[in-house]
This record gives sequence, structure tokens and C-alpha cells, in this order.
Amino acid sequence: MKIIKLDTVESTNDYAKKIASESENFTTILAKKQSKGKGRLNRRWESPEGGLWVSIILKPNFFSSLLSLVSGLAVLKTLESYGICSRLKWPNDLLVSEKKICGILLEKSSDSIIIGIGLNVNISHMDTENWTSMFAETKKEFNLEEVLDVLIDHMKYYYSLYEKKEFSKIREEWKQNSCTLGKNVVIETSFETISGKAVDIDENGFLILDSGKKINAGDVVHLR
Ligand code: BTN
Repeated sequence: MKIIKLDTVESTNDYAKKIASESENFTTILAKKQSKGKGRLNRRWESPEGGLWVSIILKPNFFSSLLSLVSGLAVLKTLESYGICSRLKWPNDLLVSEKKICGILLEKSSDSIIIGIGLNVNISHMDTENWTSMFAETKKEFNLEEVLDVLIDHMKYYYSLYEKKEFSKIREEWKQNSCTLGKNVVIETSFETISGKAVDIDENGFLILDSGKKINAGDVVHLR
């Protein structure tokens, strides 16, 4: 498995997209800093030195939004390996005490899926609000390449479940570790704003509300 290590790059996801067609499954791009880090919904992603800014190129045999949940679970288990208990906010944010420690951006590029992971590791300052980091939670610094190795091992495990179509295992584990289910939520999709109680996720990883409505993408605010 190839890991490309860069100093500063605009965005590891954009870099990954450029090389995706000639890259092998699990080729990984790691950058010390990103000058134009991208978040979901075209937001900027603050990426100073000390974070794990990484993109993994996958070549799945089929595509399902469950890949998003697979990535979230891999980060959850990575944090758990370092004694940090996090929760999954649908679709794939990781929160510690309602503060964001990791965001994930999935993008398609011809035959590949780029999994962009931004994990706040040795971060002690951010301009954004409501963030936390592994350092802020533990007062310890971590070796970024070691954290990446742990993350890739977990990613390989959950990706193998995905390729074997063991969807119920992925779904059940995600549900057990979610902080979205059971909450009243407001969801901004590209078309509308929807409120309701989040009750379940389906076999595609879509969020199900108590009204029966299924949401495949959007930005969620937890009400309580
Ligand atoms: C979000 O929560 O909005 C998703 C954030 C994803 C950030 C990561 S950092 C590595 C990769 N490269 C990017 O430009 N974005 C993703």
C-alpha cells in the first residue's frame, strides 16, 4: 500500500482526484498542512500543522453511501485505540462531548472514491467554534504517522465488511455508536429544511425520521 507524504498541499482530496485513475486501492495521501482544505457543502476546512489531513483512494466494486459510515467507524475505533470515546453524528462527523474532533468528505472520481479525513490530533488552537482534538482531550501529543497506521488498519477491516456486503454488521455498529439517533434534528438538504426525530438508518446509510422520510445527504443540527 502506497502512502504519499506531502508538506503543504491545497487539498489532499484534490491531489487524490488527480492521481486516482492510475492509483491502486488504498493509496493514501497525507499532508502536514492544507492551504485550501475543503469541508462538506463547499465549506473551508481549517488545516494547520498538527492535524491528520489524509485522503484514501478506494476502488470499490460497487458504490453505496454506507462507505461514509464505514469511514466514520474506522475513525471511531482509532480514537478508541487511544482511549478517546467519541460518537458518530450522521452522516460522518465524530464528536466528543458534542464537539467536533473529525470530519469526513467523500468524493467520487471516475472509478474511485476518495475518502478525505480531517482528524484534529495535535491541535491546540482553531479559529472555528465547537471543536476539540486528541490533544485537547488527553493533554498528550501523538505521532501522526502512527495514528495513520491505526486508522488504515481499522479502515481495512470495515472496508472488508463492506466488500463482503456485511451491511447489517456495519449498520448495527454505527447505530450503537451514534449520537444522532433518538434526537430531534433539523436537516438542511440542497432542496429543503426538514425537522423531525431521527429514528434509524436504512441499509444504504440513509437517515430515517419518525415521519418515515429518508434523507440521503444533508447537514444535521441536533436539537436535544
Ligand atoms: C467536513 O466535516 O466538512 C469534512 C471535512 C473533511 C476534511 C478533510 S482533511 C483531508 C481531506 N482534504 C480536504 O480538503 N478535505 C478532507
